[in-house]
Amino acid sequence: MSEKPIVLGGSNGEHLAVELAELGSLELGDIEVRKFPDGETYVRILANVADRKVIYINSLQRNVNESLVETVLTIDALKDLGAKEIIAVIPYMSYARQDARFNPGEAVSIQTIAKLFSLLKIDYLITIDMHLHRISDPNRLFNTKFYNITGVKELAKYFKKKYEIRKEETIVVGPDEEAEQWAKIMSKEIGDLDYFTLEKTRISAEKVVIDTRGVNVKGKRAVIVDDIISTGGTIIEAVKNLRELGAAEIMVGTVHPLLIGNAYNRLLRLKLKDLVGTNTILSPISRVSVAPAILEALASIGVV
Ligand code: R5P
Repeated sequence: MSEKPIVLGGSNGEHLAVELAELGSLELGDIEVRKFPDGETYVRILANVADRKVIYINSLQRNVNESLVETVLTIDALKDLGAKEIIAVIPYMSYARQDARFNPGEAVSIQTIAKLFSLLKIDYLITIDMHLHRISDPNRLFNTKFYNITGVKELAKYFKKKYEIRKEETIVVGPDEEAEQWAKIMSKEIGDLDYFTLEKTRISAEKVVIDTRGVNVKGKRAVIVDDIISTGGTIIEAVKNLRELGAAEIMVGTVHPLLIGNAYNRLLRLKLKDLVGTNTILSPISRVSVAPAILEALASIGVV
């Protein structure tokens, strides 16, 4: 019996599992995932997990519902095969944005997903910049020891290393009020930069309107930071507004580059100074790894 955990990655977490194992000198195990002819998911744990601590990583994206089924099947199988402790790392927790009944009759999706997770009796659940705006007690909701860590520090390290950033010439911008937390972290990590949040009103899934609330970006470099880029609507509108106000240069960083549909091409047309995301979800802009942040979190809770 080894006390060191074994790392396993799902279809949308394999890249992070490989990196984490390398970074933390941990054993990397294999899982076979494939489809039955009728579309059902088949999961087989190839590693011996009996009596072991298991770190399982999978993002609930690209293929949102399939990843969810794969994750649930895998974690339940790990438990069934005698894993001593299960640490589920879900870098992108989907369904978290539907965290309230915005219109009569709607399912409050994240509550249902959390109920499903709580049945799995996971020992620790680690997410990255999960949309927690209206969830007051995630430990209770998921019925486990829950840790939501941030990928924004890794994005800040990237910007700091790549560019010479002068405090007096730079402002960090959150495209809506909810992004204040990320703007604050980005600002602090780069070096106590000024930060500001815009005001966003969502008109439809793809259309937003932004009020710049008198921010002064004239002649400055703006670093926009948001948790998710989905359709790209928020960032496109924010960039348009900041340019109208005379921003000299704009860089964008996001933790979860969902980049749905033609979002990437629409963003490319903006000719930004930089557009970067983390690898919670693989995409053409996923150049910053969250593996160091995951390892740090695992160390802080005594798993590695
Ligand atoms: C909203 O709550 C999030 O923080 C993002 O601003 C949003 O998901 C971005 O979506 P889109 O790229 O579709 O505007």
